[in-house]
Amino acid sequence: MTDPELDAELDSGVETAPPAASLREVVERSDVLVCCGSGGVGKTTSAAVIAMDAARCGRRVVVVTIDPARRLSDALGLESGLSAEPQRIDLDQDVHVEGEMWAMMLDTAATFDGLVRTYADDEEQIERILTNGFYRNMASAMSGTQEYMAAETLHALHHDDRFDLVVVDTPPSRNALDFLDAPGVLSRFLDHRIFKLAMLPTRSGLKVLGSAAQPIFKAIGKVVGSDVLADSLAFFQAFSGMETGFRERADDVVALLRADRTSFVVVASPRRDTITEAVWFARQLADQGVGVAAAIVNRVQPEFGEIEEPARATDGDDVLSSLWANVAELRAVRTAELAALAPLVELTEPAPVQVVPLLGDDVHDLDTLEQLGHHLFPAT
Ligand SMILES: Nc1ncnc2c1ncn2[C@@H]1O[C@H](COP(=O)(O)OP(=O)(O)O)[C@@H](O)[C@H]1O
Ligand SMILES: [Mg+2]
Repeated sequence: MTDPELDAELDSGVETAPPAASLREVVERSDVLVCCGSGGVGKTTSAAVIAMDAARCGRRVVVVTIDPARRLSDALGLESGLSAEPQRIDLDQDVHVEGEMWAMMLDTAATFDGLVRTYADDEEQIERILTNGFYRNMASAMSGTQEYMAAETLHALHHDDRFDLVVVDTPPSRNALDFLDAPGVLSRFLDHRIFKLAMLPTRSGLKVLGSAAQPIFKAIGKVVGSDVLADSLAFFQAFSGMETGFRERADDVVALLRADRTSFVVVASPRRDTITEAVWFARQLADQGVGVAAAIVNRVQPEFGEIEEPARATDGDDVLSSLWANVAELRAVRTAELAALAPLVELTEPAPVQVVPLLGDDVHDLDTLEQLGHHLFPAT
């Protein structure tokens, strides 16, 4: 198979940097780092550990978590929990930390409201949109809104002078495109015929729907109910004039997601089904021309060192021999888990794949995050 872009690049003599040799190198080369993967694999935890390590390396990092669970904010030592405003995390406890770590939690509805405030013409338009029932429902519940607002937040933070690295934990999804494609979905929606028809009445200054649109909206009204239809038409009309701003913004967000210094890290756990999912995820990204910069395989059965069962040492000792049997079993689990990674390693190569062991306990404090950091970023 030939890759026209690669060929063009080779022809033009532009040198491409060699692939990153480690996760740390991937982080060093990024301004934006997106942790993606299916639910429960450790995306939120990995995002926090990556941010912490980058701060220790001198960067000013903000990590955006999607997870409303308090566990991460507890782990970060934030008594009042995380909010939609970035908060500085005190890492300077034992040793001086050169960089800065900030953390915040995505607030989908507030982010959407902020966009409306940015692009509306006046207070009256803002008010009409923010109090509209269809809008309120869409801002918090419509599928894709969370993904788009995560991408939007990433864009805003990327342009915030306080930070030089944004680490984002994506919403749990089985589909990589939910996040990558969300800004495109918004643009296409704004281009959609129905949307354009709905905008017609205000554009032409009429208070009633244009005759071309009436039959369509009558039909829609029968399906969704006339209240919902009235609300949604009122919303579209209030939205009039803002679509250009929204579309340009969505285009900027799309460009940022595909920028050279934006890296996607796929997080997986070593079970065969989640590896299959991670492989599918990585393929979807590749199909969109976005390479996986690194993979993290989290919660792998830890190693039990090199010691072998001494010959005859356990003769007659039931406790000792059952302990050895246990060690053998756990070693077999680790071997099977490492074997299960093969398809992911194959697909992401030469990008680094970092294996992180299962800890004895949940991640509940800064020390545990740091402990995971030693595994995610082993000293060379
Ligand atoms: N290496 C690990 N060892 C033990 N527990 C872990 C490890 N990584 C994550 N966890 C725990 O697993 C759970 C899920 O992790 P989380 O980061 O919230 O996943 P995700 O964001 O992908 O849903 C959390 O309770 C977290 O503390
Ligand atoms: Mg999470």
